Amino acid sequence: MACISSRDPGKIVAARNGPGPVVVGFGSGESYLSSDITPLLAHTRRVAYLGEGEIAVLTAPEIRFSTFAGAPVEKAVDTLDWEPAMIEKRGFAHFMAKEIFEQADVVRDTLKSRVSLDSGRVFLDDLGIAPDVFREVSRVVLIACGTSYPAGLVGKYLLETLGRVPVEVEYASELRSRDFVMDRGTLVLGISQSGETADTLTALRLAREKARAVLAVTNNPRSSMARDADGVLDLHAGPEIGVAATKTFVGQLAALSLFALAFAQARGALSDEDSLALVQELQRVPLKMDRVLGGAAAVERAARRFLGCEHYLFLGRWINFPIALEGALKLKEISYTHAEGYAGGEMKHGPIALIDEGMTTLAIVPRDRVYDKMLSNIAEVKARSGRILAVAFEGDERARASAEEVFAIPETHQLFTPFLTVLPLQLFAYHSAAAKGFDVDQPRNLAKSVTVE
Ligand code: G6P
Repeated sequence: MACISSRDPGKIVAARNGPGPVVVGFGSGESYLSSDITPLLAHTRRVAYLGEGEIAVLTAPEIRFSTFAGAPVEKAVDTLDWEPAMIEKRGFAHFMAKEIFEQADVVRDTLKSRVSLDSGRVFLDDLGIAPDVFREVSRVVLIACGTSYPAGLVGKYLLETLGRVPVEVEYASELRSRDFVMDRGTLVLGISQSGETADTLTALRLAREKARAVLAVTNNPRSSMARDADGVLDLHAGPEIGVAATKTFVGQLAALSLFALAFAQARGALSDEDSLALVQELQRVPLKMDRVLGGAAAVERAARRFLGCEHYLFLGRWINFPIALEGALKLKEISYTHAEGYAGGEMKHGPIALIDEGMTTLAIVPRDRVYDKMLSNIAEVKARSGRILAVAFEGDERARASAEEVFAIPETHQLFTPFLTVLPLQLFAYHSAAAKGFDVDQPRNLAKSVTVE
């Protein structure tokens, strides 16, 4: 809560009671108050965070802190390492476009100094918990909201395949209402770009009472979630201004890939040879992402061509099922178009009834373990006169023969295809919204971080 009195207009009194973040900024002869650090960047990089049960009294020359009972509190000033230039559009029409094109660098930065290209080992020294914890747990639970949820699902599939461990992914808002069973054999990861989403914070606080350890996978290592957690996996994605998450999603994929590899290595679930091959391929992913982004003009043309389409079905299987969810979410968030994300195998249990020439199916069909099954899905859509767009490997003639347009991606290891398949879907959503003249960076009714239940 923040108050200004008309009788004392040069003063702001702020108080925090609960998980919502309150940040103060120290300028020169100016003081600032915000619910997030990003808006402060244009004014100052010197900040402090209000703890629960604390009050800040801001005047232009100074900020004083106390407890609710009035006892003075000393605050350490934190200097942000984000540069003000990071929150400029740099020639792009929207922040979202700029952030989409930054994504290969985000993966490069997330991997930097955390992998050895000689041994294939992954080093998560900054995580702050002993690798013993990885050996001791028998189950991993990932907790998230919004776009962080499909990132968590990709994380689940990576951990299952590489770490051979049971994994669950939960919506934070649901988990906190349930009688969720958790014990000291459970490792919990909270996934949140902001680290401030109220539902995720509350669910993680509940988890802390029971689980072996709680880790925060976040783009804000100073966030409430990071401060609450036993360890932090920093995304290093830089500030994200567009409300619809893009580069932080890809940063989450990179962080979770590293986590899954480190987890598997600590448990001896992955041979040295496989580790090396995977790490070397992961290192090649950013270059391949740049190649996909180089084909953005074709996605823009397709988005314009399909502007009249009002219903979309996004289909994917296995590790690209979450990308179908994320592609549909992006399209509805910013272009206000009805879109559903479905697992390919579930199409016959409902969505198939909707398919006709008014429904476009966006099928994700890299040549992986579910490729043939996805091609069968496409054939079923075609037989019912549905329109088809596909994301497939370069040179895939079978996909090309079935779809009106194919967004091509380079080949990569099947576990890493989400890094590439998500890019055309983000671009498709972006260009659909931009062509309709919508406020891409600030879509109606949505907020960058949801600090209320
Ligand atoms: C809001 C944003 C989404 C984001 C979600 C979860 O709804 O608009 O882009 O995915 O919150 O945010 P988090 O910070 O927890 O990842």
